[in-house]
Amino acid sequence: MFNAKSDTIEILHAKSKNEFSNLAAKSFCQSLKSSPQKKPIVILPTGNTPLPLYAELRNSEKKLDFIYFQLDEYIGLEPSSKRLFTNWLADEILDPMDIPHEQRITFRSDNLFPQDEIDMMRSWYKENGPADIAVLGIGANGHIGFNEPPSDENSQTRLVKLSNETLKSNNAYWDNDKKAPEYALTLGISEILHAKKIILLATGKSKAIILKKALTEPPSPEIPASYLQNHPNVTVIADAEALSEFKS
Ligand code: GLP
Repeated sequence: MFNAKSDTIEILHAKSKNEFSNLAAKSFCQSLKSSPQKKPIVILPTGNTPLPLYAELRNSEKKLDFIYFQLDEYIGLEPSSKRLFTNWLADEILDPMDIPHEQRITFRSDNLFPQDEIDMMRSWYKENGPADIAVLGIGANGHIGFNEPPSDENSQTRLVKLSNETLKSNNAYWDNDKKAPEYALTLGISEILHAKKIILLATGKSKAIILKKALTEPPSPEIPASYLQNHPNVTVIADAEALSEFKS
């Protein structure tokens, strides 16, 4: 048994890669199904961790319909850039699932006035939110979305400067041949915590220490993911490596 400090967090241990993608897809689809909304609002992460989930959803016969609300995005990229998170998620899941473009609420990376994008996302969320489901990964420094440490529990959608650690891990997505932008837009911890259901995915040894801290240490701005302990309905799906700091 793996236990978080808060009893509103359920931890599911995936014993194989297959089990990880199955558990993640099952948890996601069940949460979608149990939502009273016809088109639930869904927040989805980029990164390597959710790729098995997206592959599992693409390969299933299930027809899913939802409104995609963007978690985070770099600033200053052209609409055709491969590095745009919007394009990444379009390739991985939104296009294969035929999610109509008008159901994709996203930041415009090339807007010279990022504050307009922040205002648009904040007011859309205020009017239409909260999200029904937020699927999240965790950064090696404990970030969720691009809420880098220190990030307050009340933080809202905003512009952030990415830490060197995050830039390094993000550059690896493109074999380091193109640098990730240093600035980004992200939903705040407060908007993420408003989601009715949160599914946190974590795999690999590099997440072991931070995952343990996030789920067992008192919530603090230094580990933004630790604020998930204050949410009433979180499922963590993790492999043995990511859970290796927990004593069974
Ligand atoms: C990225 C994204 C996050 C993601 C995290 C972990 O920088 N902004 O949304 O969850 O870092 O990424 P990975 O799954 O590749 O470890």
